[in-house]
Amino acid sequence: KRSTDFQNSPLPDFTKPQVRDQLPQAIAHLRACLNSAPETPLLIGSEQIRTSDTFDSLNPNAPNERIATVSIAQEEHIAKAIQAAKKASGSWAKLSFAQRTDLLKSAAAKMSERLWELSALQVLETGKQWSEALGDVAEAIDFLNYYAQQALRFDTPSDCGKTLGESNQLHYRPRGIATVIAPWNFPLAISCGMTAAALVTGNPVLYKPSSQSARIGYEFVRLMLEAGFPPGALNYLPGSGQIVGNALANHPEISTIAFTGSRAVGMRLIQSAANPPPDAREIKRVICEMGGKNAILIDSDADLDEAIPAILYSAFGYQGQKCSACSRLIVLESIYSHFVKRFKSAVAKIRVGPAEDPRNDLGAVIDASAQRKILEYIEIGKDEASLLYQSEAPEYGYFVPLTVFEKAHPNHRLAQEEIFGPVLSIVKAPDFETAIKYANDTPYALTGGLFSRSPQHIALAREKFDVGNLYINRGITGAMVERHPFGGHKFSGLGTKAGGPDYLLQFLNTKSISENT
Ligand code: NAD
Ligand code: ALA
Repeated sequence: KRSTDFQNSPLPDFTKPQVRDQLPQAIAHLRACLNSAPETPLLIGSEQIRTSDTFDSLNPNAPNERIATVSIAQEEHIAKAIQAAKKASGSWAKLSFAQRTDLLKSAAAKMSERLWELSALQVLETGKQWSEALGDVAEAIDFLNYYAQQALRFDTPSDCGKTLGESNQLHYRPRGIATVIAPWNFPLAISCGMTAAALVTGNPVLYKPSSQSARIGYEFVRLMLEAGFPPGALNYLPGSGQIVGNALANHPEISTIAFTGSRAVGMRLIQSAANPPPDAREIKRVICEMGGKNAILIDSDADLDEAIPAILYSAFGYQGQKCSACSRLIVLESIYSHFVKRFKSAVAKIRVGPAEDPRNDLGAVIDASAQRKILEYIEIGKDEASLLYQSEAPEYGYFVPLTVFEKAHPNHRLAQEEIFGPVLSIVKAPDFETAIKYANDTPYALTGGLFSRSPQHIALAREKFDVGNLYINRGITGAMVERHPFGGHKFSGLGTKAGGPDYLLQFLNTKSISENT
């Protein structure tokens, strides 16, 4: 059922100078604060705990700028957080859905008040362009408001039908403690979406941010606690995936794992949940959102004035570091050379440089390891396909050149594996049916797009293009909460769509009660 009182958060109007000035001011202010207090402690129950073992989170565009020195959770802290969550669990689960909803709304209001500060932090810690940073905070606010509204329906058990002398209902109950393991690329929105969903359905949360966006994770948890979430209901436990993430995911007291990240890690979590130790009391439910190898199809009658800007943004927005990003263009043979010529001249206009400067379109990638991996794929691409265009890239900072290959083969590694950077490959298809076949022929099914003016081809894509989110005659990134419930299948994910009406059900157990009356 479609909701009626949910509205997506509006984005600021940058045509107004007084609005435009807010972000650079927030960045300058934040820099001064970070310099004087870079340490972020663990947040467990009502305690702030500093550890001697720490890591630094850096600005990817200027890696000599430290954004935070982050305390790393040890085994003893995980045990402590489990105790805090168990203590909070009874009273948290007993609240009505409506009571928990109020806290989500108050967190959403606080996030709106701190829009500029939270966006500035994203620019510095994750190298997001202004619009990307603001978009991420707006999406986090949307998740809070949307899940708050969606949760209300669970206070009333569903009526399962009557027969004479028997009443039947379905009740919705919290599952128990949830571990939330988040990525860095939508550092606030995805952390907030998974956490808000677990909390509003009555489950305490142990949250592990990605190390590359640990400060954003810390500010998120502080904001939630300020909004009134009780101590122990939400705990902040940063550290490496292999040690802290793994320990949090495998702990026997955890009932649900909400994970967003790479296919390799997601598969590991699913495997370990499927092999519980002999003393386990339940099967952990694993909600996994993973990667993509997303294609846009260019039909012979596509409107290229519409298609080219949408492709550029879908492929290179936030340096292509979105699970939804376009990394394959499948172009019909009849339009191939015309398209490639126009696309090459358009892509050459993209400006590469630090994300903090709004004149730049493409900034640094997240860290040195991502930079290395993307550069390796560019070398693989040079062997497999033809280089169509490559930009310059600044030497300082984790930059890689924007790179476009053409004449790629659909089976090339370039066209099969998630690169997660500003690298796009163009594949030629002899006809529309083959284009769809190429598009579907990867292990992933996350987003996909089509530019066409043919009603028959649009109908065929609706039917046969096997993706979680299909976008027709528009870009393929930037799903809006409620309007575009988001998530994939095949090796792109397991679970119902984020920002959609079925998402909260994953954090609940249902109990069917029949009474002989
Ligand atoms: P990642 O898998 O490397 O890390 C994600 C999280 O998992 C991090 O917090 C990390 O510390 C943790 N982790 C790593 N190893 C772990 C282990 N062994 N046990 C438990 N936790 C562990 O992914 P990333 O680099 O942060 O994010 C990029 C990936 O996320 C891409 O593949 C992208 O497509 C995917 N992603 C998917 C969606 C979606 O909605 N489908 C959204 C955003 C990102
Ligand atoms: N939800 C994000 C997008 O659609 C990943 O781009």
